[in-house]
Parts: sequence; structure tokens; C-alpha cells
Amino acid sequence: MLSNRNNNDFYSTNELSSYNNKSIDVEADTPIVVTTALPYANGEIHLGHISSTYLPADIFTRFLRISKKKVFHVCASDDFGTPILIKAEQEKKTPKEFVEYWNKRDLEDFNAIGISFDKFYKTSSHENQEFVQNVFNKLRNNGHIYEKEVIQFYCDFDNKFLPDRYVIGTCPYCKSNDQYSDLCEKCGRVPEEILDPKCGICGKSPIKKSSNHYFFKLSNFSDDLKEWLTTNNNLQVDIKNYVLHWIEEGLQDWDITRDLDWGINIPVNDAKGKVFYGWFDNHLCYISTFNTLIKEQFGKDGKDVWNTSTIYHFIGKDIIYHHFLFLPAIRMGINMEYKLPDYIPVRGHLMLHNRKISKSRNWYISLREFISTFNPDYLRFYIASISPSNQDDINFDWDVFSSKINNELIDNIGNFINRTLSFTKKHYDGIVPEPGIYQDEDQKGLDTIMTISSEIEELFKKTETDKVLKTILKFSNFFNQYFQKKQPWSDKSSAATTLYISINAVRVLAVLLLPFIPNSVEKIWSQLNNNNKLYEESWDDLSKLKVQPGHRIGKISPLFKKIERNEIEKEKTKLGTIS
Ligand code: MF3
Ligand code: ZN
Repeated sequence: MLSNRNNNDFYSTNELSSYNNKSIDVEADTPIVVTTALPYANGEIHLGHISSTYLPADIFTRFLRISKKKVFHVCASDDFGTPILIKAEQEKKTPKEFVEYWNKRDLEDFNAIGISFDKFYKTSSHENQEFVQNVFNKLRNNGHIYEKEVIQFYCDFDNKFLPDRYVIGTCPYCKSNDQYSDLCEKCGRVPEEILDPKCGICGKSPIKKSSNHYFFKLSNFSDDLKEWLTTNNNLQVDIKNYVLHWIEEGLQDWDITRDLDWGINIPVNDAKGKVFYGWFDNHLCYISTFNTLIKEQFGKDGKDVWNTSTIYHFIGKDIIYHHFLFLPAIRMGINMEYKLPDYIPVRGHLMLHNRKISKSRNWYISLREFISTFNPDYLRFYIASISPSNQDDINFDWDVFSSKINNELIDNIGNFINRTLSFTKKHYDGIVPEPGIYQDEDQKGLDTIMTISSEIEELFKKTETDKVLKTILKFSNFFNQYFQKKQPWSDKSSAATTLYISINAVRVLAVLLLPFIPNSVEKIWSQLNNNNKLYEESWDDLSKLKVQPGHRIGKISPLFKKIERNEIEKEKTKLGTIS
């Protein structure tokens, strides 16, 4: 086992906050708020979550930190909703115990794969509950909420109103049985009225019951949403276009009430037994978590900081509707007390060997299992290398994974670093030599170091992680060839110059790779034996020759272990087999 979980969270929360407190003046800089979609607190984080949301956001955040920007990455567990309540009951736990378990476990998994949050909180926090109730009251005072009776299925046996997903019956169109009341998976239609309805929990026939619900008038915001979408030039154009199309077709108001007791209470007198719909409270938790963080770190109100920040919401493409319509409309409805997002980076789904990931069919890779077998940085490297900055689906393939790691990460990057450091150890007693006269090749090497930061910075800013990584590989490849051409083992006269430049290229490479493979870069850093801590490095110094002649490098060991054929074959045979 190569991975070591404890090593992975080097950006521990303490280190992060001291970094934030010391090195940046919150008043002087434009802060950047990065949020990532909140995982439901009812199941493990899987590779699809990592690739669509958390990894792109984490790479971006780490780049901003090293650029010495004031950045806050906040996330939380999404604790409410019927599915969670039902699962908790099945496990004979209280919903509170149940979500606490998943909140903790998700954070452990995120840490293990190096996703570094400034705060990971929960939608059930008292701060979020209060915040959500306040927002509701304001929306109500502003005339954006109305009440309406709705008729719903109710199971007398389970004593529950049944949400659509929990009513199963026969599709009125194609007559397939065992279909959800809100979607027939056979013919793809949305049944007007499902035939022969049954309770999804106990299988008995439910009755119909009426209940008073609160609705959010999304339709009040059609014009403002249209205006925002057309004037914000940072949003992905294809997405903007079909969201505009939805607006043209007419927006439906949102029923924000659920007849449950697991959720945030609706702050009106006669709303006993009713709570907010999870999609009313969860995205507000971006803001309430941010406010809590700012209070903890700086003792001040988060609102001003939020409103002077650049805001990014990283999401997967299945929740576009919520983030492009619902979320902005609610902020508009409280008079823009909190500004709208500047960017909403949307990524596609992760496919597995070109098929949809499905846990029940075991067409699935558990994150936990993955990192108990492979170095977590391998996953980060591979996913980053195939992630475009758009919403196209990407494909996980075990063979491609192994060839990318073996050929690109290990044979290209690892090889250059290892041969440079080993040579220094062996022939210079581990001491960086004094360079001599620069020949043409050396000058080219120096130029490559000088220009890399400007080449990459723009790509980073556009969250084009795959292109950044390609450029880094080109850089490493250049230096492999440089080393090869200069032959320090036979051309003794210029060997010192070759090594001096190569070691400095190793340092640059380490900084470049920090957002991608943070755990491995820690190792490179300690082999280089640099005097400063990695998180003190600055992007502005990237193109400087900071490793000085006379510096003694540290202990050298191989950075990576190659992936063997049989390891991959073993993983492939696990797919699709139900144990
Ligand atoms: N829990 C939701 C999901 O997994 C995402 C919530 S993101 C938020 O689909 F913004 F709305 F909180
Ligand atoms: Zn029932």
C-alpha cells in the first residue's frame, strides 16, 4: 500500500487558517469564495463526485493559495430530505446520528484525497437553520411567497406523506409496472397520474390527503434572471442558452414545503410538522457556512466580505437548474443582500469504461477502496488530465489510468526529478554545484523556466486543468531531453551547469504540480530540502532560480511506484460482479 492517509492532509485546517491570517490582508485583496456542491449525507463519496466537482475546485483553490490570493473554499453536508430520513430509519438510527456519521466520514474521504476546505460544515447547523428562516421571512415580506393547498399521497401505515419517489405504480402510458410516480424509466415520460399507486416503503396503497404548502414565486424573477444570464460573460455559453430557453418556456413556482419532521422548521405559527424542502436550504448553506467561517477567523460579519469577493460555485451538470435559476432568484428576492455568483463552473459526469456509473450494478469504484490500493495522487493526476473545462462527460478507463500514470507521471515527471536528484547525490555529494558558462541548450532551459508561469497562469484562471497539466508535461519532457542531450555523466565540463539548471527546474516543477498532486509534491520538497514550507512558496517566484549553489539536498527515494498489469486486471474483474 502506497497511500498514507495521515500524510494527505498537509493543508490541515490549522495550517490553513494560520496561512490565511498571516499572509493576507483581507481588506486589501479581492477575496475569492469557492463553493462546491454539498454532498448528501447518506452515502459515500465516489469518483463521480470527485471528478465533476471537488477536484476541479480543489486544484483551482490550491492554485489561488499559491498565488497568494485570499481564498475561502467552503462546503457542507446536505443533511435534510426524505431519502435520508428513510435510510436512517432502516438503519435504526436517528436522522441526526445518521447524518453526523456521514458528515464525518465524507470529510475523512475528502481529506484522504487531498480536497482541502477552509470549512466543511452542515446544512443542519444552527447557523444555517437561522439563516434560512431569516431568508424565508424576508422573501415573504417582499411578496415572493404564497400558500396553496396541495393534495398528496399519504401512507396511513407509515404515517408519512410520500414524496414522488416513494410512490410506485404502473405507468399510464406504456403500462410498465414498478415505476416512480414522477418518472417512468421505461418510456421516459412523466405520468400525470400513476395507476395502482403503492407506498415505496411498505408496499400498501396510500390515500390522498391535503396539506397547506408554501410556494416560492420563481416566476417573479424571469426578467431579472434573463438579464443576469445575458450580461454575465463568465457563464458557459451553451448552458446559458438552454437556461434561457427554460425561462422562455415559462418558470414554474417552487413548492418549498415538505410534510416531515426532519428539516428546517418553517417559521410561521401553523406550520407544525412541516419543514423546508432540502433545495430551499442547501444552497443557502454556502452563505451561512461562509459567514460562520468569517466570524471564526476574523470576528466579523461575512456579508461585506462576500459582497466584495469573486464568487465561484463548482457543480456537476445535473444541478444546473437549481444553481442557474433557483439560487440566483432567492438572492434577488432578498434584495441582493448577498451578491450573485460570478462563475458557475459546470462539469460533466464520469463514465466508467463508457458506461454510466451504477452502484447497484456494481459498475462503480469506491473512493475508499481506490485509495487503499493506489496513491491518491494517481487519481488526482489521472482525472485532472482528462477533465476539460466544460460539461462533456469524461471516461474512467483502468488501462488508460495505468498508462497515464506509468508513462506520464512516472516515466516523464518522476524520472526527471529522480535522475536529477540522484545524480547530484552521487557526483556532488548532494550539494548543488556552481554553474559555469551557459551554452545554447542551457539558455533554452533558463528561458523555459522564465516563461512557464505566464504560459500557465491564464489556463489556470480559466480552470482548464487538462491543458495546464499538458503544459507541465511538456515542461518536464523538455528537461528530460535537456538532461539527455547534455550528458552530464560524460561531459564533465558542463555537468555542473546542467545540474544547477535541472535542480531549479525540479523546484519549478514541484510548485507547478502542487495543485494537482499535493502529497507527492511534499515528498519532492523534502528531497529538495528547501528551507521554506511549501505553502510559503509564491507563484510570483515561480520563474526564479531559487535553489542556490552550495545548498544541500535531502534524502532521495523513488517518488512513485509503477502500476503493474495484474493490479489493473484485478480491478477490471471487480467491475460488474455483484459480491
Ligand atoms: N446535495 C445535492 C446533490 O447532491 C447538491 C446540493 S448543492 C447546493 O445533488 F448548492 F444546493 F447545496
Ligand atoms: Zn407505506
